[in-house]
Amino acid sequence: MADSTVIKIGICGLGVVGQGVWKHLQRNRKLLESRIGVKLDLTRAAVRSLDKSRSVKIPDNRLTDDVMSLATDPGLQIVCELMGGTDLARDFTLAALKAGKVVVSANKALICDHGREIFKAARTGGGHYFFEASVGGGIPIIKALREGLVANRFKLIYGVLNGTCNYILTRMEAEGLSFEELLKRARKLGYMEADESLDLDGIDTAHKAAVLGFLAHGRWVSMDEMLVEGIRRVTQEDIRQAAMLGYSIKLLAVITRDFETDRMFIGVHPALVPRSHVLANLTGAYNGICLSGDIVGTTFYIGRGAGQDATSSAVISDIADAALVIKGSHKLLLPDEAASVHEESSRPCGLLPLEEVHSLYYLRLTVKDEPGVLARVASVMAGNDVSIASVLQHELPLSKGASLILTTHQSNEKDVRNAVTELGELDSTIEEPFLMRIADFEE
Ligand code: NDP
Ligand code: HSE
Repeated sequence: MADSTVIKIGICGLGVVGQGVWKHLQRNRKLLESRIGVKLDLTRAAVRSLDKSRSVKIPDNRLTDDVMSLATDPGLQIVCELMGGTDLARDFTLAALKAGKVVVSANKALICDHGREIFKAARTGGGHYFFEASVGGGIPIIKALREGLVANRFKLIYGVLNGTCNYILTRMEAEGLSFEELLKRARKLGYMEADESLDLDGIDTAHKAAVLGFLAHGRWVSMDEMLVEGIRRVTQEDIRQAAMLGYSIKLLAVITRDFETDRMFIGVHPALVPRSHVLANLTGAYNGICLSGDIVGTTFYIGRGAGQDATSSAVISDIADAALVIKGSHKLLLPDEAASVHEESSRPCGLLPLEEVHSLYYLRLTVKDEPGVLARVASVMAGNDVSIASVLQHELPLSKGASLILTTHQSNEKDVRNAVTELGELDSTIEEPFLMRIADFEE
């Protein structure tokens, strides 16, 4: 290696991801250095508890519990924020960027909540911000979107972005186990966020969708502007019924932009995906993302979306890019909100209201098993302009009524929601109806 530049790196957070980065960077350091032409030194790390036992051994004099000291340490050029959360992580990131450092992060919650502020701090402070591991685990999806497909406009992006939910749903389907049993297993595998609600309620997927939405369209969409539903209400019965209809259930993120009306939409929800679709065949903690560009057409990206090794791969790739930026041999393009401005109207892209979204739907009703119920259900659907495509009915054990599984033709979200509200209020309805969208993506 001709260049003797040494880049010093600090890591904040030595949990699942931080320890993986430390371990793999030590192990593959020589190879990486030969590829990028720069020497890398893992100089310091910060944690919350100095006494915790860890699988990576770090000398005491390199370990601190003073996180902020790494943000301003003049000896460090790259700092990795691998703590999670949005309070200390935000303060640390802004301080490091202000000090002109390159920050590498896997923290999608932070980017979703404070991305605008962080990118601005990177621009004004002379630092840089890399976040490949924030979406899709080991899949280089951010690089694909920002570099490989930079020539395209994206009418449709959709995918499975949460490994934990995909693990739970696929094992429910394959093993017939309950949601609760699989939750315990997912915890052991290190896929889950410290706050499990982020995974199970679709919030983590929404954070990732917000990052992709911003990169593709230059507009930050906040959580309250999205449709966000999680997987807690998906039962074994839904999995079985979906299978009988030829579908698998996946937690999907869908990002659309209509270039004629120039509005975008982000939705996160469980959906029935046809068995023949590549996403239906994603197992375990895998993620899969489909990007449809107006020039390239449809492209798919699949890989492990959570866990130590896959995530470390993405963080280390950012460290390599960061080292190249510092060395001055790589130009970094920070995403710019100006990219959301429509060329002809010169206005920023708007948002498609939920009421104008259309889809195919799956509806599970638990109803009294008595004459006239099916007719009343059909009448509510017709009264709301929702056309039924199929009906499956079976008796529930122990005289607990009947389960009705309906699917619809293309319908309007507002009409379907009105129908679901009315159905929930019928005397014959025993349990709150459960609605999912059926994935039907036309290119
Ligand atoms: P962990 O909970 O395993 O680790 C968090 C680390 O941060 C721990 O070492 C902890 O210290 C340290 N830390 C937390 N709070 C503080 C604090 N206040 N002061 C000092 N140190 C602190 O998290 P993960 O490694 O799983 O996740 C890290 C980030 O990576 C998150 O943003 C997550 O969303 C993201 N991510 C995680 C993936 C995964 O598969 N796990 C995949 C993709 C992204 P201590 O050990 O002493 O408690
Ligand atoms: N909890 C997240 C998941 C980690 O399961 O996908 C990866 O972002």
